[in-house]
Amino acid sequence: MRLDKFLGDHNIGTRKQIKEYVKNGRCLVNGQPVKKSDIHIDESNDEITFDGKILSFSKFHYYMLNKPDGVVSATTDGRNKTVLDLLKTENVRGLNPAGRLDIDTVGLLLLTDDGGLIHRLLSPKKHVDKTYEVHLEKDISDDDIKLLENGVDIGDKKDNGDPFLTLEAKVCKKGKDDNGNPVIHLTIHEGRFHQVKRMMEAIGNRVVFLKRITFGPLVLDENLSYGEYRKLTEDELRKLGVE
Ligand code: URA
Repeated sequence: MRLDKFLGDHNIGTRKQIKEYVKNGRCLVNGQPVKKSDIHIDESNDEITFDGKILSFSKFHYYMLNKPDGVVSATTDGRNKTVLDLLKTENVRGLNPAGRLDIDTVGLLLLTDDGGLIHRLLSPKKHVDKTYEVHLEKDISDDDIKLLENGVDIGDKKDNGDPFLTLEAKVCKKGKDDNGNPVIHLTIHEGRFHQVKRMMEAIGNRVVFLKRITFGPLVLDENLSYGEYRKLTEDELRKLGVE
């Protein structure tokens, strides 16, 4: 792999910046300063440092996407645009969304070819937190909030036929949006089909706009407009337990 590609994959800068940084001696290959960024390295064996910090080679790819409305969280679809169609300049081979957002839900979606991570994040036993910004049709009472926080019946059944209530959740009131619709932040620890919409229906309300703003340790990057994406940072990867 070329050194500039390797450094670019670690979000060190643009090709032009990287050329300059390398020229200034900030990058060492096996302890030796190099002056040219277009040299080839053996990314799985060479030790590459930048400003004294060792950069590890990852065979996987990780992207944060701000999913827009009207796009499906799938890799292929006969009718609609998929989230992979948005990653224009990237090699999308092997990438998958970590979980699904409805076609009309926007916000944070992790895309990766690291199947192990997807499995860990989606495992029902792991109870990974997800926070949604939920715009509602009607006002929400304190009693409704208590119900949502304690668990509501969204129609799912346990094996013995009893209602399978939602797990404890956290609700935070956020005032009203520009259309006068009440807004809440809802944090849940599971990922059942249409869960947020069904939870709101269970308290006699309705979702008019839904945006995911956190997923596990990841927080939606406010600099990403709808449809934009970026690689995860080293810090985000560390928080996900990816080295
Ligand atoms: N809950 C929903 O109802 N829809 C989503 O897309 C995500 C969570």
